[in-house]
Amino acid sequence: MDNNTLLEKLNSLSIEEKIGQLIQLTGDFFEGDMDTVVTGPLKKLGLNIDYNVYNTGSILNITNPEKIIRLQTDYLEKSIHKIPLLFMADIIYGYRTIFPIPIAQACSWNYDDIEHAASIAAQECYDEGIHVTFSPMVDIVRDPRWGRVMESPGEDTLLARKYAQSVVLGIQGSNLDSTVPANKIAACVKHFAAYGAPVAGREYNAVDMSEHTLREYYLPGYQAAIEAGVKLVMTAFNTLNGIPATGNEWLNRDVLRQEMNFDGVLISDYAAIEELIMHGYAEDEASAARLALLASVDVDMKTAVYANQLKNVISGNDHMLELLNEAVYRVLKLKNDLGLFEDPFRGLQETVQLPTSSVLSDEHKKAALSLAEESVVLLKNEHELLPLSKHTKVALIGPYAEENSTLGMWAIKGEEADTVNLKTGLLKLVDPDNLSVCRGAHLLPLDAREAFDKYADKLAVETSAEEVLLHEAIRNANEAEVIVLALGESIYQSGEGGSRTNPTLPEPQLKLLYELSLLDKKIILIVYSGRPLILTEVVGKADAIIQAWYPGTMGGEALANILYGEVNPSGKLAMTFPRSVGQIPVYYNELNTGRPNLKENGFYRFASRYIDEVNEPLYPFGYGKSYTSYEYSLLSISQKEMKKNELVDIHISVSNTGIYDGKETIQLYIRDKFASVARPVKVLKDFKKVFLQSGQTKIVEFSIHEEMLKFYGREMKYKSEPGEFDVYIGSSSQEILLSFSFILLPEDNHE
Ligand code: GLC
Repeated sequence: MDNNTLLEKLNSLSIEEKIGQLIQLTGDFFEGDMDTVVTGPLKKLGLNIDYNVYNTGSILNITNPEKIIRLQTDYLEKSIHKIPLLFMADIIYGYRTIFPIPIAQACSWNYDDIEHAASIAAQECYDEGIHVTFSPMVDIVRDPRWGRVMESPGEDTLLARKYAQSVVLGIQGSNLDSTVPANKIAACVKHFAAYGAPVAGREYNAVDMSEHTLREYYLPGYQAAIEAGVKLVMTAFNTLNGIPATGNEWLNRDVLRQEMNFDGVLISDYAAIEELIMHGYAEDEASAARLALLASVDVDMKTAVYANQLKNVISGNDHMLELLNEAVYRVLKLKNDLGLFEDPFRGLQETVQLPTSSVLSDEHKKAALSLAEESVVLLKNEHELLPLSKHTKVALIGPYAEENSTLGMWAIKGEEADTVNLKTGLLKLVDPDNLSVCRGAHLLPLDAREAFDKYADKLAVETSAEEVLLHEAIRNANEAEVIVLALGESIYQSGEGGSRTNPTLPEPQLKLLYELSLLDKKIILIVYSGRPLILTEVVGKADAIIQAWYPGTMGGEALANILYGEVNPSGKLAMTFPRSVGQIPVYYNELNTGRPNLKENGFYRFASRYIDEVNEPLYPFGYGKSYTSYEYSLLSISQKEMKKNELVDIHISVSNTGIYDGKETIQLYIRDKFASVARPVKVLKDFKKVFLQSGQTKIVEFSIHEEMLKFYGREMKYKSEPGEFDVYIGSSSQEILLSFSFILLPEDNHE
């Protein structure tokens, strides 16, 4: 539909029909006869009795092609305006083919594969009739107590930008005009803004930070999604410096719409408009409706506020009527960009009569396997215990030994039955005679279960007595050469609402590890988690440690391939692993302070340090081991003085000096030695992931350009400042192998 026709459509709508386009409900409002709806969901949500569900603009989380066809058909028959419904869902890291959780994907540093994974999720959604997915989530996180680390791109701004861009392009395609092509759907970047920095890591808690910090670290991820053409943005639950994001005019109109040039749909998070009242920011529903519309929120997800209040809020107020029309236009334009006016079933009919062939196809599973292999991080490998020989007699022990619940909390369409668990993965490679398997311990303390009451039916029923489990584990371990110990936090200890004050392995599992460590057996610990756990107490009890995260549908096969050396691990941490909770937040790009705790000063009290813990984390950002080794040497630097419009070209040589082929992520960090605001001791500015055969050497090139040197100065202007810069090139943020300095010349030197 061309724009004029779209505007005509908008102007043809009644006020009720316009408001209806801004309402998002769940599918139960369209099930059963009207009495059932009125006395059921409509009453429960508090919608006015005269609300016409056939004015509703979009549906949340219906993910069944036949149901989508039935709802859309029924809706188009009964609605007056015949504007098709939008179907939106939380397909965050896979539809039926589930990829590793986003924090794991971020550890792959492979953004081509991340984009490919997103395109596969979009394809499977397209085949099953979904129009919009609420991904990518790009909330920077420096606090592993927060449960939603699992769906974040980690602590670094550059990785968040790359993740945002890759996922949006994967989901939507890089279409130059605004239409969303076939096999693609619309993406929604979230949560705007800075939801990943709640005070004390406590879910939904306040976010308070300087405008400098917000702009320097937290906003660029959302900006990258907008530059990639993202169709929707979702507001965050939290207050930002005292004002709830969902009612924050400065954040949503001045920053998002004006500065970041976003003209797409802004949808609230679940019930976030109504929550303006609970925040103490709106005194009632009418006030919440007005504040949200003034803050440019277009769609009210799953509350009655817009439906019940907007008509009164707008009545007699031309400005508010104009804001309503703008909001409705953006929703209609999204539907038009998706081609829904021409085809409300958007490709569904071609596939719904057939089994939707793309779902869980071998090609999709192969991509999930490959990304899982690159997302796993090898944290420890004493005496090169790994990789194992397939002839080694292994005792696979632990609650995750044959656990299929390894998809993470946002795999709403993922089927555990489709998952390759660790035992299944290992048996693809080794003879069953070389593998014993047992649970060894309960996943959670039995008294912890009430904390997961909502998921009680999904939690494994722990019937065996702990001593029986332990006895079997010790017997199996004694009969084996090596123990592979698969431990982890429950997926229900992670994700939304999953904040933990002490993010460690559950107590029954720590007991199991302790008991097995008393045996004279080598232990390979595999950690399943949705966040960096505090592993300090366990590091000394294991000879090798693999961080598996929640690796998705093909996780068990990926881990088996790594254990037996079919694949050389190449993951690098996208988030710091603290040594203790007391260090949190601990991250690599910290400021130097006026009294840095310098090793050469030894134990000097009056430095920025603790008296009961070191400053350094257990594992730093960018860290990850390999089965092989690499050597870096600096070959050339084009110049040591750079004008703004010039480049510093760097050539380094990287050699694989070990016996295994492998992929190495060479990281380039820059430090601005002095500036109008204190700058971090280092900031990741580029990286290259390079494949090297054993014995192979490659030349790796980087170019430093002025854009890399920009930052938000005191007056919040994004610009570079002349002066000296240090460059660090390494295999992690701590393992710096090469360094040099250069000068950015002042402008007047540019004659
Ligand atoms: C949830 C989440 C958000 C999700 C939305 C819809 O509470 O905060 O990420 O997309 O509601 O389910």
